[in-house]
Amino acid sequence: MTATAPRLASRLDAVQPSPIIVVAGMAREMKAKGEDVVSLSIGVPGFLPPAHVYEAAHAAVDKDTGDYLAGRGSDALVQAFIASMKARGFDYTAGEVTAQNGGKGLLFNLFLALLDAGDEVVIPAPYWASYPEMVKIVGGTPAIVQATAEQDYKMTPAQLEAALGPNTKAILFNNPSNPTGMLYSADEVKALAGVLVKHPDVWVISDDIYDMLVFDGSKRAAHLLDFAPELKSRTIIIQSVSKTYGMPGWRVGMVAAPKQVVDALLKLTSQSHTNLPAVTMAAAAAAFGGDQNFLAEQKARLMAQRDTALAALANMDGVTCPVPQGAFYVFPQVRALFGKTSAGGRLIDSDVAFCEALLAEARVAVVPGGAFGDDGAIRISYAGKADELAKGLARMGEFVASLR
Ligand SMILES: Cc1ncc(COP(=O)(O)O)c(C=O)c1O
Repeated sequence: MTATAPRLASRLDAVQPSPIIVVAGMAREMKAKGEDVVSLSIGVPGFLPPAHVYEAAHAAVDKDTGDYLAGRGSDALVQAFIASMKARGFDYTAGEVTAQNGGKGLLFNLFLALLDAGDEVVIPAPYWASYPEMVKIVGGTPAIVQATAEQDYKMTPAQLEAALGPNTKAILFNNPSNPTGMLYSADEVKALAGVLVKHPDVWVISDDIYDMLVFDGSKRAAHLLDFAPELKSRTIIIQSVSKTYGMPGWRVGMVAAPKQVVDALLKLTSQSHTNLPAVTMAAAAAAFGGDQNFLAEQKARLMAQRDTALAALANMDGVTCPVPQGAFYVFPQVRALFGKTSAGGRLIDSDVAFCEALLAEARVAVVPGGAFGDDGAIRISYAGKADELAKGLARMGEFVASLR
């Protein structure tokens, strides 16, 4: 008798696994087999958090009470996050914030809380790969607004206006952007805010997890609420310790939003993960509440690595790249190379083919741009170790030069 298994739910049939996780996993497996692979794929910030974060985590173990903990987060975490929002210029009370399981878990729960079947979420492309898939999992419909490399990957106010319709439930705004690193200027944000104030039935999800990692000399990225404070009653701010504090594995995301949204998230997580681990909450509280001076050094390092990446890409024929002003990604166009053949005989006819050949023949892992809504591009995460970045870029340069 052959072994059979019951059917899985059809919910995931149209959902893609995160290509970022897939590519990073392939690189990890190759490394584990002893292969000399450079991974410029997943968005790791490339630095460890300040020492006080680890001290707080150790202290939390010593202070463990053996209890379940508050779903909203420890008082220390809630207060440290409120102070961190205050330093950004935003006022929130304890009832308007909650901790969640990473920015990713938070966004997933948020879509569960906001969307009914058929509700549309306007997502400017290039977008973070998980946004549309999450929307689809909960039965919503992604409404993609394509921003091209020629427009510096930034959605225009006219495009936003055209995308907002009777079924629009929410819009996602991510400044600066993963995957492009592009930063909307104050004037550009102001113009988009001007459109959104005219659409009172739309939730505004502002994914601000890179807002402190900006290279234009400002302290943080311009924000919709800077120009339209009246949007606050329907704006949901996403934050995370992953990128700013070098803590992606700790899985702490924070939301600042109208109380009804936070209450809905708490209702949801009271039936799912209950609370975050005490240790990670203590560490996140120390990160948000502690000295922020390390950030200047990290920003300078990231900017230098961005420049290294841009200089290398500028020397690759057929590769063009708008100059990013934030986060830690470059999103070069490689479409001009499609139709060429690699030294190993692979036809480069797509972003995926480019990335597969680059990994197989040059041992460099990057992510196909199609995962982010632009299949003429690739995404390079440049925040890792400087020597690895240089090695990966040199290999990619040789690979591109060898295409015929
Ligand atoms: C734009 C954006 N939002 C949210 C996340 C989720 O981050 P985390 O779950 O690590 O907090 C990421 C991670 O790469 C991201 O790039």
